[in-house]
This record gives sequence, structure tokens and C-alpha cells, in this order.
Amino acid sequence: MFETELSRSFEREYGSSPLLIASAPGRVNLIGEHTDYNDGFVFPAAIDRRISIAVSRRSDKRVRAFSLDFSQRDEFSLDRIERSEAVGWSNYIRGVIVQFQKAGLEVPGMDLVMSGDVPIGSGLSSSAALEVAMSETIRALTGIELDKVRMALMSQAAEREFVGVQCGIMDQFVSTLAEEGTALFVDCRDLSFRNIALPAGIKVVVCDSKVQRRLEASEYNRRRSECESAARKLNDELGGIRALRDVTLEQLESHGRMLTDAEFRRARHVVGENERVLAMVEALEEGNSVCIGKLLYRSHESLRDDYEVSCRELDTLVELARNVSSTVGARMTGAGFGGCTVNLVEADGTEEFCAKVGVGYERESGIRGEIYVCEPSAGVSSVRP
Ligand code: GLA
Repeated sequence: MFETELSRSFEREYGSSPLLIASAPGRVNLIGEHTDYNDGFVFPAAIDRRISIAVSRRSDKRVRAFSLDFSQRDEFSLDRIERSEAVGWSNYIRGVIVQFQKAGLEVPGMDLVMSGDVPIGSGLSSSAALEVAMSETIRALTGIELDKVRMALMSQAAEREFVGVQCGIMDQFVSTLAEEGTALFVDCRDLSFRNIALPAGIKVVVCDSKVQRRLEASEYNRRRSECESAARKLNDELGGIRALRDVTLEQLESHGRMLTDAEFRRARHVVGENERVLAMVEALEEGNSVCIGKLLYRSHESLRDDYEVSCRELDTLVELARNVSSTVGARMTGAGFGGCTVNLVEADGTEEFCAKVGVGYERESGIRGEIYVCEPSAGVSSVRP
């Protein structure tokens, strides 16, 4: 359905049919927040909201792009790709093309139309979805061999080098490698991963605070450097520490005095959060709801108090969820500073959950949030329409 509409828009824009349509999903992270760039563990799932790109080849070296959602066009030459100050979304496209060129892969001229239903700026990784969809667009159009892990890494590099957020690998990785009905456990050090089925009786529910993330890029990059300096100092003292992944809570407690207060608390979050991811995988496999709930709430508290990336509205959403009897657990998800919470909810209680949290949030914050019951979905794909 969506593909037919996109094809029609493509025809209206360029006067011919697209050759193929690539798409990639947004994601919600169940647990393992701000751990990916510390070589740690993450456990996200792809959601049933995607960004799609329809494409056809051109014989010259130009790229024309039309975003249906922004009603905006862009055009540039493949010979000299620079950051666009005028068209924000185009930088994700441009950044990916640059990565392919850097890898020595020939990128042809293209006409593109894109659209999607991943909410933008809500912490559900619309940017990763766009980058990964663009990587798949080029891969499928040119027929080059590109394994999925490499595709995720190139998409991440586009964001880091071209957009300027020093993000980890989680978002692009799950948008590329997810499988339907599962969440993806990833060891971000060696990029080994495992798809883990979610229990049928539990639904993943996302509550969007509708608070646009504030100061995200600068604060995000700052957290990252605080973690790196904490790891460096601990390594000087203890040796063998490449990243906070290598630190135990005991080590942190006995050697934490050489860290600043902020470094100590950031490190305490990361060390605890890595343990929580491992415990969560076990608890899910055992179907231990009590344990799942405790881990999610503890993760939220740690992000709020030690990592300081939550905000009042996210805290309100978590508290409201906690008071609904069908909630297994809740926490903020993604980079923070606004955006969404993730909630695991008993399947037969999702209606009650949505009603109570929706009404309560509007009453307490004055903001009408949005609630999505998500189906964990498959990663990147492409079709010939
Ligand atoms: C953003 C980044 C990810 C990750 C999360 C926090 O989504 O893109 O790499 O660091 O924040 O867990």
C-alpha cells in the first residue's frame, strides 16, 4: 500500500516508475542505554515504522531528492558533496553517499523520493532509518556485495562524520539486522549479536512525550567524552581498560576517587547498565516479569540520576506507567533529553495502559503525548515495485 503511494509520487515527480524501493525501520531500545559507545551491550528492537526510498538511476552524476514529508527538494552533484545548511535531511543522504565513495564504490546518479512514518526527533532513530534505507538503496541499485554489518557501520559513519553526532552503533545496527518478533542483543565491542524472541504475552509500548530533544548533540557528545576520560583515568591506575565495558563496580568504587563527580556517576551508570542488559536477556528468556520490571525501572533511575539525560516529562511518563497494573516495567529510551519511554506491558492490558497513561500525562504535563503499541519488525529490505 505504502509502496504504491510512494511509486505514484515518484512518477508524478520524475515522470517514470522507480526501479526499486528500499526501506529501513526505526527502533526502540529495551535496555542498554548509552552503553554502545562504551563497548558495552545493547538490546533494541526494530519497530513497525519505516522510512522508504524509491529510486531510479540517472545517466549523469547528479542526485535529485524529494522528501514527501518535508515537501522539500534537493539536488547536488556526486563530484563534490558538501554539507547542506539549507536542507537538513539531505545530509543523511549525502553522508551515506560519501561513505560509499570513500570505500571506493562507484555511486551512480539517482532520482530519489522518500517518505516514512518514523516520528522525527522523538528518539526512535528516524535518522538511522534514513541512513540505512539510503545504504540499501545504493546497494540494491548497484548490485554490489555488502554484508549487513558493514552496511550498519557505513551508515553510522555517515552520521558521525557528516551530521556530527558521535553516536554509537546501536541504531544503525538494529535497523539493518533486526528480525521480526525479536529484539537484538548486541555486544558492541565485537559486534556479535543474537535475535531473542519476545514473549507472546508481553507488548512493547512506546510513549512519546512530544518533548523535542533539547541540546541532544552537544550533551550527547559531552557524555561520551566524560565516559572516555573516566576510562582513561581508570586505565592509568588499573591497566587493561580500553573502555568502561572493562570496569567492574568494585573497581569503580575502590578507584573512583581519581574521577570527577560527573565522571564517576557516568561510569556508574554504564557499568550498572551493562549488567542490567545481561540480566534482562536472562529474565526475558525465563519469562521472569518481576525481574524484567526491576531492571527497567533501575535503568531509568540511573539515567535520570547518574547519567542525567532524562527530563521531567519522561519521569512523569515512567511514574504513570508504574501505577498501571498491567505494566511490567518502564524507562526512558534512546539518547534522552526528551523523546520517548519504552514500556513492557501485559498484552491483555495494553488498552488500559494507553488510556491511563495518555490521560494522566496530559493532566500532569499539559501536553498531549502519543502512544504506540509496537510490533518488533524486520530490518532493512528492498523490493522492485
Ligand atoms: C542515540 C545514539 C545511539 C545510543 C543511544 C543511547 O540513539 O545514536 O548510538 O548511544 O543514543 O543509548
